Amino acid sequence: MKTIGVVGAGLMGSGIAQVSACAGYDTILRDVDQRFLDKARAGIEKSTAKLVEKGALTAEVRTAALGRLRTTTELEDLAGASLIIEAITEDAAAKTALFRELDGLTGKDTIFASNTSSLSIADLGAGSGRPDRFVGLHFFNPVPLMPLVEVVRAVTTSDATYAAALDVAKALGKQAVEAKDVPGFVVNLLLVPFLLDAARARERGVASTMDIDRGMMLGCGHPMGPLTLLDFVGIDTVVRIGDIMFDENREARYAPPPLLRRMVAAGWLGRKSGKGFYDYSGKELVEVVL
Ligand code: 3HC
Repeated sequence: MKTIGVVGAGLMGSGIAQVSACAGYDTILRDVDQRFLDKARAGIEKSTAKLVEKGALTAEVRTAALGRLRTTTELEDLAGASLIIEAITEDAAAKTALFRELDGLTGKDTIFASNTSSLSIADLGAGSGRPDRFVGLHFFNPVPLMPLVEVVRAVTTSDATYAAALDVAKALGKQAVEAKDVPGFVVNLLLVPFLLDAARARERGVASTMDIDRGMMLGCGHPMGPLTLLDFVGIDTVVRIGDIMFDENREARYAPPPLLRRMVAAGWLGRKSGKGFYDYSGKELVEVVL
């Protein structure tokens, strides 16, 4: 495997492209808008500079990685990739349309992977036209720092594809957890109900935002409190994942509470919009009145 294509230059896609380029793969990052690609490249330059500063990456590896990273708005440029990792919005129809198009552009040996957090790998694989060469590779935010990748096997994934995906996860410097194709896989199956419960606790006024976060950080050793993590992942993203998991399971624990929907309607999406459970506009973190 020499070339990895990544589709979607958001937080996850740019992080995946970063680790791919740093691991020595020729990496092509594609998005529909050049502005997203410019933002992603700037983020990768900043993140890798930080890693060099901390001694986690050498300056030589950084320079080589930045040289190996290409950005493009043309899907055709991914035609020669051995592996294409999709990291676009969590929307089954959009993902399927993308894979259909890629199926027509790439050779039969190209493996397709989705970074979906909750959609069915079997469904996406069936829609892609190459279900045997389709696998889930679920990364965690921030991708350059989080050591885990869930490698998700659908009933249709071939042994060779699954083995190749495990090899790539290792080559990217990640630790793999082998997961079945159930909604949420391992981590989100447990994490999403926890985050939604934290939002419900806030909605009921059990404690302030900061005290709910402090409770889990100081009481359980979590690096971030759940409401900070909701802001970090994106409130809209968590609502979308919760909705998908609720549709599949019909269990109340996966249903996003009204408070989160109101916040999405207001445009309070967390860190990326500057406001969520906290206001990020100033130097000090300020709890938002809800
Ligand atoms: N690249 C390089 N360096 C980065 C970085 C990045 N993308 N992001 C943060 N850093 C650096 C910071 O600059 C900082 O450097 P410093 O030590 O020189 O100041 C260092 O990492 C530590 O960062 P912070 O001081 O800001 O904060 P923390 O010590 O709390 O560490 C964290 C940050 C690693 C993100 C930690 O808070 C953490 O592990 N949080 C939990 C994250 C988590 O749970 N992620 C999973 C989300 S769920 C998911 O992604 C799945 C999806 O499907 C929903």
